[in-house]
Order: sequence, then C-alpha cells, then structure tokens
Amino acid sequence: MKKALFAALPLVLSLCVTTAWAAGGPEIKIVGATASSTNVESLQRGARLFVNHCLNCHSAQFMRYNRLTDLKLTPEQIKQNLMFTTDKIGDTMNAAISPKDAKEWFGAVPPDLSVMARSYTAERLGAYLRGFYVDPSRPTGWNNLVSPNIGMPHVMAELQGNPTVKETVFKADGKDIRTTSDAYGRARSAFIASNTMASFETHVEKKDGKTETHYIVRQLVPATDGLMTPQQFDAAMADLVNFMGYVSEPYRNQRVQIGIIVMLLLGLMLPAAYWLKKEYWKDVT
Ligand code: HEC
Repeated sequence: MKKALFAALPLVLSLCVTTAWAAGGPEIKIVGATASSTNVESLQRGARLFVNHCLNCHSAQFMRYNRLTDLKLTPEQIKQNLMFTTDKIGDTMNAAISPKDAKEWFGAVPPDLSVMARSYTAERLGAYLRGFYVDPSRPTGWNNLVSPNIGMPHVMAELQGNPTVKETVFKADGKDIRTTSDAYGRARSAFIASNTMASFETHVEKKDGKTETHYIVRQLVPATDGLMTPQQFDAAMADLVNFMGYVSEPYRNQRVQIGIIVMLLLGLMLPAAYWLKKEYWKDVT
C-alpha cells in the first residue's frame, strides 16, 4: 500500500503544478506593476503601445502582423489599428525609418526588438522604459538611468511627462569613510524601499594626488505632467513588456501547457507501469 502511494506521488505533484499555474500564470513583474502573460487584454494593450511608439524606429523582424490573431484580434482589427508600416498582414514588423537615417539621427541603429525581452530580461526592460529623465546635456535632451547616455529619446514622454533626477552625493570630506558609506547605504535602502528607481555609482576622484571616494545616488523624480499618472504609466509599461515577452516567445504559453499535459500523462502512466512491473516479476522472485 505504501509503495502504491509512493507511485502516485508524481501524479499528485503534477496536479499541484497544474493548479498553481492555472491560478495565476507566469507573471511579468516590474517595480510598481504586474502583468500576466496569459492575460490577453494586457497583451493587446501592449501591442498597441508597441506599434504606436516603437516601430517608428525599431523592427521586430521575427514577428508577423497576422500572428496577432493569437491575441484574439481579428485581421480587420489588426489592419485598422495596428498596421502603420505596411498594408500586407503577412509582413513582418519593420521599422518606419531606415537604419541609415536612424544612425544619422541618433548616432546608433535601433536594435531589432524581436528577442529583446529575452536578452534584456523583463525586469530590466521595464526599468529601462521607466528610466528616462530630462538631461539637457544630451543631444536628444534625455538620459536613462538603466542605460546611461543611450541614443534613444524618451518616446513616451507625452504619456509619462518629463521625469527628472535628484542626485545626492556622499563625500568622505575628511569624515571617516565608513560613516559616509553607511549614510549612502541608508539612503540607498530608503530609495529602494520607497519604490522609486535609483542608480548608484562610486566615483574615485583625484585631488592633490589623493583619491577620494564619492558615492552618488540618482533617484528618479516621477513626472506628473503627462497624459498618464505615474501608476497608469507603470501599468502601461508592464503591458508593453508583457507584449515584448510574447513577441520574443510567441509559443511560450502553448509550450507550458503542453509541458503540463505531458507531466500529467507521465504521472498517470507511472502507477500502471509500476503495477505491470509487479505483475511481470511476480513469478520470477
Ligand atoms: C525615435 C526612435 C526610437 C523609438 C521610437 C524607439 N527607440 Fe528604442 N532605441 C532607439 C535607438 C537609436 C537606440 C540605440 C541607442 C544606442 O545604442 O545608443 C534604441 C535602443 C533601444 C533599446 C536597447 C537599449 C540598450 O540598453 O541597449 C531598447 C530595449 C529599446 N530601444 C526599446 C524601445 C521600445 C520598447 C520602444 C517603444 C516604446 C522604443 N525603443 C522606441 C531609438 C528609438
């Protein structure tokens, strides 16, 4: 009896996995907001943001418009609302500007976004998209906390507004270096706890041949002059990253489902195999 119970264990385990998955599905988490990769409405909102704000400059070579029917959109809806750079629904998502122009205007060719969510990770992508701030010293007028001095302007400034950055410098300045780094550590934890994104750098400056360590904390000051509130913008970015995750792996949800079905079948077969083994060996031993 004990052995039979043991044999049924994989079945029980696979059932647990299925229930846990069905309850929520894999989630995209970025600071402040979450979006589920099984939530079709979130993916549709993300698709809209993507075609409206990213395809001007970037391509998504491996994504065809007609695949968007996966997101429960009709070919008519796709044609009318989401296709700006072509009128053929079987086309891949091309950029509106040529790589040559982009290089001339921004100093760098915008990378293809097909698999960006995989190489960059969802968390980092979310932080990047929420990390733009006003910086008059840059040619585009924008800088980014996650990718400093990036050539990309803040293309969603209309939605988010104009975030700025507050910089606090912790210098040793004759004080004990440990006191300074403790103060820096406390400031850093406070920024992380308050959910505003921050970036930290350690600078070593030479003065009269001496080196001095400077700790710099850059904290994003959320904008309130956009069409969206900071909360709405966070949620929109979660949708956008969610969609970019889907673009990078359109079959992911199906694959997870198939995996679970296979696990279940294997789980079901195990007690049968165990029973058979016992039957076959019964007379031998
Ligand atoms: C106005 C043109 C333009 C638009 C529109 C645009 N980008 Fe970019 N993007 C660029 C350029 C140029 C670069 C490369 C910059 C560089 O390498 O310095 C870039 C780089 C990136 C990178 C790589 C960043 C890194 O750290 O290397 C990501 C990710 C990205 N863009 C995402 C997006 C997303 C998502 C959208 C839509 C919301 C978007 N971009 C819209 C011009 C644009």
